[in-house]
Amino acid sequence: FRRMTKQMITFLRLFLIGDSAVGKSNLLARFARNEFYPSSKSTIGVEFQTQKMGINGKEIKAQIWDTAGQERFRAVTSAYYRGAVGALLVYDISRRQTFDSIGRWLNELQTHSDMNVVTILVGNKSDLKDAREVPTAEGKVLAETQGLFFMETSALDSSNVAAAFQTVVKEIY
Ligand code: GTP
Ligand code: MG
Repeated sequence: FRRMTKQMITFLRLFLIGDSAVGKSNLLARFARNEFYPSSKSTIGVEFQTQKMGINGKEIKAQIWDTAGQERFRAVTSAYYRGAVGALLVYDISRRQTFDSIGRWLNELQTHSDMNVVTILVGNKSDLKDAREVPTAEGKVLAETQGLFFMETSALDSSNVAAAFQTVVKEIY
C-alpha cells in the first residue's frame, strides 16, 4: 500500500510549448538522454518521455510531453495541456519572432490548461551569442509581468537545461 501511495504522489506531468524550431525536442533530448540533434525533424503532434528526477531528496517521475510547434497541430497538442502541472514555454533568443509569439502561447495556456499550471519562460539557444535578437533583460521583464519563472538555456551546450525543468518541479513540490 505504501509503495502505491508513493507512486501516486510522485508522478507528475509537464509539457513543452512554443513556436516550431525553438528547440523543445532538443531540450527534452538533452535533459532525458543527454543527447543533441544538430538537424532534428519537426515534431508531429505530441511525443512524451518519462524521466526520473531527484527533488529535495525525493525521487519523482516526470512525464514530459513534447508538443509540435507548427500551427497545424495546435488543436491536437492543446488537448494534452489538461492535467499537467508544469509548462516550459520556449522561445529562441536568436529569432525575435518566436519571442513575439509568447503572448499567443500564453493565451493558449489560459484557454486549455489547468489554472495554476507552474510555467517557466525559457529563452533557448543561449549559445548563439552573435545571433541574439532578444536581450536577456527583455525575457526577464516579460516573465515578471506575466508571473512566470525565467531562464535562458542551451540544448547545444547543456547550460541551464536541467535547471529549467527542476525549477518547475521544485515549485510544485
Ligand atoms: P517543433 O518540433 O517543430 O515544434 O520544433 P522544436 O521546438 O522541437 O525544435 P527542435 O528541438 O527540433 O530544434 C530545431 C533546431 O534547432 C534543430 O536544428 C536543433 O539542432 C536546433 N537547436 C535546438 N536547441 C538548440 C540550442 O540550444 N542551440 C542551438 N545552436 N541550436 C539548437
Ligand atoms: Mg519538436
